[in-house]
This record gives sequence, C-alpha cells and structure tokens, in this order.
Amino acid sequence: GTPEPRTPTGAVPGCPAAAFAQQGAYLTTAQGARLRDTDHSLKAGARGPILLQDHHFREKITHFDHERIPERVVHARGAGAHGVFTAYGTAEAITRAGFLKKGRETPVFVRFSTVLGSRGSADTVRDTRGFATKFYTDEGTFDLVGNNIPVFFIQDAIKFPDVIHAAKPHPDREIPQAQSAHDTFWDFVSLHTEAQHHTMWNMSDRGIPRSYRTMEGFGVHTFRLVNDAGATVLVKFHWKPRLGVHSLLWEEAQLISGVDPDFHRRDLYDAIEAGAYPEWELGLQVFPDTPEETFAGIDLLDPTKIVPEELAEVQRVGKLVLNRTPSNFFAESEQVAFHLGNLPPGIDVTNDPLLQGRLFSYLDTQLTRLAGPNFPQIPINRPHAGVNDMLRDGFHQHAVHAGVAPYRPNSLDGGNPFEAGDDENAFVDVPVRVAEAPKIRANPVSFADHFSQTRLFWQSMTPVEQEHIVHAYTFELGKCYEQAIKERQVQCLADIDPVLCERVATGLGLPVPKPTTPLAEVVPSPALSQVGAQWPAE
Ligand code: HEM
Repeated sequence: GTPEPRTPTGAVPGCPAAAFAQQGAYLTTAQGARLRDTDHSLKAGARGPILLQDHHFREKITHFDHERIPERVVHARGAGAHGVFTAYGTAEAITRAGFLKKGRETPVFVRFSTVLGSRGSADTVRDTRGFATKFYTDEGTFDLVGNNIPVFFIQDAIKFPDVIHAAKPHPDREIPQAQSAHDTFWDFVSLHTEAQHHTMWNMSDRGIPRSYRTMEGFGVHTFRLVNDAGATVLVKFHWKPRLGVHSLLWEEAQLISGVDPDFHRRDLYDAIEAGAYPEWELGLQVFPDTPEETFAGIDLLDPTKIVPEELAEVQRVGKLVLNRTPSNFFAESEQVAFHLGNLPPGIDVTNDPLLQGRLFSYLDTQLTRLAGPNFPQIPINRPHAGVNDMLRDGFHQHAVHAGVAPYRPNSLDGGNPFEAGDDENAFVDVPVRVAEAPKIRANPVSFADHFSQTRLFWQSMTPVEQEHIVHAYTFELGKCYEQAIKERQVQCLADIDPVLCERVATGLGLPVPKPTTPLAEVVPSPALSQVGAQWPAE
C-alpha cells in the first residue's frame, strides 16, 4: 500500500503530508519514487565498478555524508523531555505574563546538559549542569536558560570564550573530558578570582548530581517582571525538584561513568516511561526595583552572587511535570535552540553584563549550528503562538509566505498591525532609565568582592559535605602539572577560609599560605554576615 503519512512538520500548502512518510509497505527515494532495491549499487556487471548514474546510491550516500551538524560549542552533551507547566497564579500581581495566570497550562520542552564534555561524553562527570526550559506560551515562547548552580564563573560575557577555552580539554592533547582536573582550568579560576564561588559549587556535591530529577535549577541572572499596571519588580528564578536535591559520591560517579555513561539520560527516560514523572516547582525571589538594583547590600546585577533564601524567600509560582520522552533525539534534543531573548510580555531583562552578552551569543551560534536564520521553523523550535513576522527567505525556508508587502506600514497587504500602539497584549520594553555615564570598559565597584559568598558557602556545609569539598579540591588540583598554578589556587583558598586552605594544602603537600587580606575585611555586607552559618534549608 501507500506509505503512511507522518508529518511532524504539519501540512504545507501544496505539499501533501505523505511527502514525509517514514513507514509503509515500500521504500521510496527522497522524491517519492518507489524503489525496488536499496542494498546493491548499480554496477557495470556484478564484479564491475559503481556507475555514476546510480542516482539512488548518490542520494543515499550524500545524505548520510551530511547527517552530522556541529555540536553545541558548550553544553554539547544533553537530553531533553516534554512536559507541562501549570501556574499557581501566585505571580499574577507582579507580572502580566499570561502563562503565570492561575491554572494556566503551558507545554514545555526541557533540555538538561553538562557544559564541557562533547556529545558522547559521560553523564556523571564533575561539571555544572544546564537546565534549559522552553515554555510554548500562547503569547510567544519563553526560554529560561539556566544551570543547576546559582552563580556563574564570570561577571562579564566578554570573558566567556576565555573561561571556556580554559575549561575545555587542553588544545594539544584534548584531555581531560572532566572539567577541572587540569592546569588551564585552575590557571583561569585562580587568576580570575570571581570564578572562585562557582568553582566551589563545582567542588561540592552539587557538581555530581544523582539525577537530573534531583537537581535544582537557577536562572542565575536577575530579571525584571512587569505587571498590567506597568509596575516592575526584580526577580531570580529557581526550580525546586520535588524529589529534593541529591548527589552521587565521587567514587559512585567514577564507577557509573564507566559502566553506564548514559546514566542521567537513562534515569530521566526510564522514570518518564515508568510513569514516575519528574516534577519541579518554579519559584521566584522577588526584590524591589530600586535604582541601585541591590538587595540587602548584594548587587543584583552580579551573576557571581546569590541572595540567601533567608533574606528573600523563594515563592512558588507553578509546577513543571515532565511526562513525555522525545520520539527522535536529533529532531528534538539536538535541534532545540534556546535564547534568552525569547521573552513573553511581562518578563524583561536587566543590565547584568553576563546576561547582556548572552542575548547576543545564542542566536549567533545557532545561525551556524542550525545553518541559517530559519531554525525557528524547525518543529521543536516552533512557537505555539501564531506567527506573523516580516522575516523572509534565507537558507532552509519552509514557509510559503503570502502577500507582497513584508514591510509596515503598507497599502497593499491590508493595514498596519502596530497602529493600535497601546495594544495591551504586546511585549513592551520596560522604559528603564539608562545612566548618564561615560563609555567605559570596567566593572561596578561592587563586583570586586570575590570571596565572602564563597566563604559563606563553605561555612554553611555540614562536616561530611566539607570533607567532600576538600577531597574534590585535592584530587582535581592534584592532576595539575604546574606547581605555580596549584600554589596560586591554594592562596585563593587562604583568602576564602583558613581551615579549608590548610586541609587542601596539606593534602597536596604544599605549605599553608596566609590570607593576602585579613579575612574580616573581605565581608562587604552586613546582611551577609547576619545570615550566619546556615545555608538555605530545602
Ligand atoms: C548553551 C546556560 C552563560 C553561550 C547553554 C545551555 C545552557 C546554558 C543551559 C544549553 C542549552 C541547550 O540545552 O541547548 C548558561 C548559563 C549561563 C551561561 C546559566 C550564565 C548564567 C553563557 C555566556 C555565553 C553563553 C556568558 C556567551 C557569551 C552559550 C552558547 C551555547 C550555550 C554559545 C550553545 C547554544 C547552542 O548551540 O544552541 N548555556 N550559559 N552562555 N551557552 Fe550558555
């Protein structure tokens, strides 16, 4: 019979669904011509050379030759799943975003990843994990592109190529796949000391999650929400896993990466297929939108700082359930393209210089990775909201655009959709005042403290967690060849905490250095010292 239609891309005018059939009683060429043999090339006799005229051979081999696309420049190793987000309605007063209105259900696709390994690397390495969520809202797609660690290595996106060059495998030998056990990593983080906070999270149990299902997620940056009245607040996004936060022991992680390098993706897919749907709650820390953009003395534009949950409670605004595995890994997990600029009305960005740079980078890299500007038309990237744009043509254009006047205003294609101007459903850039200030390549002064929150993290750990941190620093630094790099990192530890420093230095057989600054001087904010030794409770 006729091949069964299977059209994930939906119907295109003039293009019958059967064109994409992937099943049926017989095989066809890509052009739909029925084949009688796909196992033998057309040869000049059974023992002769292959003929150039074998168009089926050439189509089959050519297509195969071009099957691979570039892996992501970072976060190459990942796995995604579909689900649904249901809003509690608790954020209605602070944002006009429709998908956060009470009871609203929004389809989502989530991709979890490691950062540094290549596509085929092991899941249980010590690394940061990506936690990227695409909400297909009916007001346009919202991408929350976060990590499982609430701070980042650098404060300015211009250093992103540098930190990734340092953390990826060495260019000469292309080892190691695991993040931190090498000279360039420790060289970077000991010279760019703003990386010390993120690095300690990596050295802690957070760096080796038990499962994607037991990871927290963080938007890291501060975002700005705007409500129907135009009032704004600043927020940080949090994902809280229903199963709680759990990690592997280092020895477990080592064994698992040998016996089952797919451990995390298998766990995710097995759980979903068994009906044990992974769940998270979305939470917000909410801060007043003041001109200083600080809270309790903490600069909200500094992505190397958290706001402790004792100072700003995480308020739950909705629930995420992952309930469907992808039917095709390439079409979904590989081709999905996240971008921080995918924002619905009610959510806007801030001037965090890391966030600002990311707004450029994702679209830019996807132009190469997904070959041209039309990747929003790939099924996994298609918005569920109706699209009426003036983007035309380009590589891999699949739309058949109607009309002759892709410009506004025009007098040919019927009107000007922007005439209303005050359309209350439109995205509005919050008219934040931009400081009268000279152009300058510099950080705010408040970005200079790199150690007090790192110390806060260390001091908030239980003895057994501290033991793991000491072991991780000692093991990872022990892999460095350069003595000077080890010593420089141990000096950073002296500036973080004397006990930690002493234990790691002793483990490495190095002298224990003195802090460069008296420790008391490094605590900048009274609010932080009030927090005491307790890390936010789950
Ligand atoms: C990919 C998170 C900083 C550039 C990703 C992904 C995540 C992520 C989760 C994987 C997305 C996926 O699963 O497809 C973060 C977080 C950051 C951060 C939380 C800091 C808070 C940066 C910066 C840059 C950057 C500063 C560049 C200036 C990229 C690029 C990709 C990527 C180029 C690959 C995207 C693709 O090929 O589709 N990031 N990232 N990231 N990130 Fe970041």
